[in-house]
Amino acid sequence: MVSVSDQYEAFPYPERDPADERTRLITGSPSDPIEMDHYLFGGARDWSKPLRAMVAGGGTGDGLIQLATRLSRAGRPFEITYLDLSCASRAVAEKRADVRGLTGITFHTASLLDAPDFGEFDYIDCCGVLHHLSDPGAGFKALRAACAPTGGLGFMVYAPLGRSGVYPLQQAFGALFANHGPAERLAAARAIFAKLPSGHLFKTNPHLGDHKQSDAGFYDLLLHSQDRSYDVGELLDELTGAGWDLASFCQPGRYDLARFVEVPATMDAAQAMVIAEKLNGTMKVHLGYAVPAGAVRPVASAAKRSLVPHLRAATPAQLAKAVSTGNPFSIKSGCETIRIALPKSAAPLIARINGKRSLNDIASGMDPITFGGIWSQIEAAFTPWDVLLYSRLLT
Ligand SMILES: C[S@@+](CC[C@H](N)C(=O)[O-])C[C@H]1O[C@@H](n2cnc3c(N)ncnc32)[C@H](O)[C@@H]1O
Repeated sequence: MVSVSDQYEAFPYPERDPADERTRLITGSPSDPIEMDHYLFGGARDWSKPLRAMVAGGGTGDGLIQLATRLSRAGRPFEITYLDLSCASRAVAEKRADVRGLTGITFHTASLLDAPDFGEFDYIDCCGVLHHLSDPGAGFKALRAACAPTGGLGFMVYAPLGRSGVYPLQQAFGALFANHGPAERLAAARAIFAKLPSGHLFKTNPHLGDHKQSDAGFYDLLLHSQDRSYDVGELLDELTGAGWDLASFCQPGRYDLARFVEVPATMDAAQAMVIAEKLNGTMKVHLGYAVPAGAVRPVASAAKRSLVPHLRAATPAQLAKAVSTGNPFSIKSGCETIRIALPKSAAPLIARINGKRSLNDIASGMDPITFGGIWSQIEAAFTPWDVLLYSRLLT
């Protein structure tokens, strides 16, 4: 039997070459500091105060390197504690940090179940780890115990529908290769995989590609010995049971039932998201942010004119140009194509977004009511897709 630790010693995941840090930065959710600020701190975090962060199950370092690099570039103070069980993964993460000359990171080979022993944190990243624990609930609880009352969690766990076909293959390979070592399992599974019929649920699933990227990716996806997924209802129960409240999923538009149908009056917000996941049918992960249960956090919205908007996915000039035509246009978000319809009057406001100007600055010279009417449409069009986020990180 290959344990989770054995696997990540043999195949640190994701497979990364530290030399690549010289040419590119891998970015994404969670742990983009602007996104974190938007969802956990109402877009109003005071970044002059050091961010005490933990990366729990940091692997080869994608989330860690993104967070440390972006805070360093912004000149913001931070201390990051990296934890992982795998020495081989930690070695890659350390080397990546070295190549970038990053400081302020402490590396530990340890279990996230011991997270509270490392202090209290303003932010905890746990991406792609909790669903690999034998008792994920204990992991959610340990992270909650390590989180400051004013802090929050950025998480990613697997979702079932976009992973169609994965679990039957994991079960078959698990039964066939119980007594093989990691390298033998990989070779044997690859040989079988090549013989699967083209109509196999896994082979027809367009949402999965890790098995094509690297040996570590193939192993992680199809040979994992401990792997479960969460539907929205199961995840909300797990969060609640561990003392967390969901702050928001990333790209909350994906969880919006009203996109498909009028939401029945009898349905609460959680039930509506459960149904939206089933109708969406493509989600392979749930990405989002959570806060300690009962914590009241401001919502990042234009109600607060001192907030600073950021645009993701396109430059303000490109987006402003598309809006200035007055015609509806499309943006891509994952495998979704979203139709955007905004008035021409939104274009000059979008063009003024530079990650430093506040809404007050953008509205300068305009009648506040006119500005509010146009901006509310911009916000409604873009925030469901994380195209517009608020943070004062760069001011
Ligand atoms: C799929 S990788 C994800 C790595 C990284 N978070 C990322 O998103 O790129 C899972 C990582 O969790 C680590 N891990 C699994 N169980 C753990 C535990 N109980 N405590 C700390 N790390 C753990 C593994 O060693 C592995 O590096």
